[in-house]
Amino acid sequence: MAARISLTRYLVEQQHKKDHIPAQLRLLLEVVARACKSISLAVNKGALGGVLGAAGSENVQGEIQKKLDIIANEVLIEANEWGGHLAAMASEEMDGIYVVPHRYPKGEYLLLFDPLDGSSNIDVNVSIGTIFSVLRMPDDDRGVDEADFLQPGRQQVAAGYCVFGPQTTLVLTVGDGVALFTLDREQGSFVLTEEDLRIPADTKEFAANMSNMRHWDAPMTRYIEECLAGKDGPRGKDFNMRWVGSMVADVHRILTRGGIFLYPWDRREPNKPGKLRLMYEANPMAWLVEQAGGAATNGRQRILDIPPGQLHERVSVFLGSKHEVERVTSYHSEL
Ligand code: AHG
Ligand code: MN
Ligand code: MN
Repeated sequence: MAARISLTRYLVEQQHKKDHIPAQLRLLLEVVARACKSISLAVNKGALGGVLGAAGSENVQGEIQKKLDIIANEVLIEANEWGGHLAAMASEEMDGIYVVPHRYPKGEYLLLFDPLDGSSNIDVNVSIGTIFSVLRMPDDDRGVDEADFLQPGRQQVAAGYCVFGPQTTLVLTVGDGVALFTLDREQGSFVLTEEDLRIPADTKEFAANMSNMRHWDAPMTRYIEECLAGKDGPRGKDFNMRWVGSMVADVHRILTRGGIFLYPWDRREPNKPGKLRLMYEANPMAWLVEQAGGAATNGRQRILDIPPGQLHERVSVFLGSKHEVERVTSYHSEL
């Protein structure tokens, strides 16, 4: 029987064989995985753990926080603040950055996360997850501040997510393809169950919140109308639609069997480029998708090349099977 490869072994081999990741980054990723295990336990307890429902507060983006949004945020901070691998963290659920307290050693990395993605699915027992992105501190001797985080996504050194679904799976890239680990609850460890995930370039499946259709701009409407026209329309094939409403679960399906995920700008809030956040949702997902042979744009440019102006910046997202992303992106440039 082939030996089971744990996340720890995978990371150690990345460190030694490929000289891909420094020890400090390996430690950081192990700690993030440990935090994901503990979030997974809280998610699994559900009503028995008293973790469902609203927290009675709002985040900086004006969204109502669920208890699990706050619990997951706290778990990630407490797990990561003392290990000496980080200088600071940023989260969807915190207004500003969280600088590692002086009583702990300061490391050279920055961690960004969406602690609980798919909040509207928590209370209905549908897949949710945690998304994370790792950047290196820029080289200088100043104290850390928000500007240090404002790096384009192509500078990420690690990115991944954990889905809390029928299984708990961790999907990770350190720039050497995408690997998938499944949580073995008896052993308490993540085990490598698939390496080098590839997204097929073509697909017949799209994921979009269709209830927003009347608010979309012309290129997005054209793309979806052509899909809906099926085999008698310009695409000459029938499309299927899947929409979980948790980005982690929708992207996970696309990494597993292909597809395109679309969350475009819409005219209800014309000054917002989109709903999803660039730094801790779009960037990590875009890098994972590119590492699996797919593409990710905001309709006009590669997501990983966007220079962020602020921590909680929003962005339109088109990602997944390469030929479909290229098509919807070309419709935007024809405007
Ligand atoms: P979050 O729960 O972190 O706020 O993110 C929710 C996001 C994303 O997971 C999903 O794709 C999208 O919001 C769904 O939003 P709508 O149901 O408003 O379309
Ligand atoms: Mn989210
Ligand atoms: Mn969230």
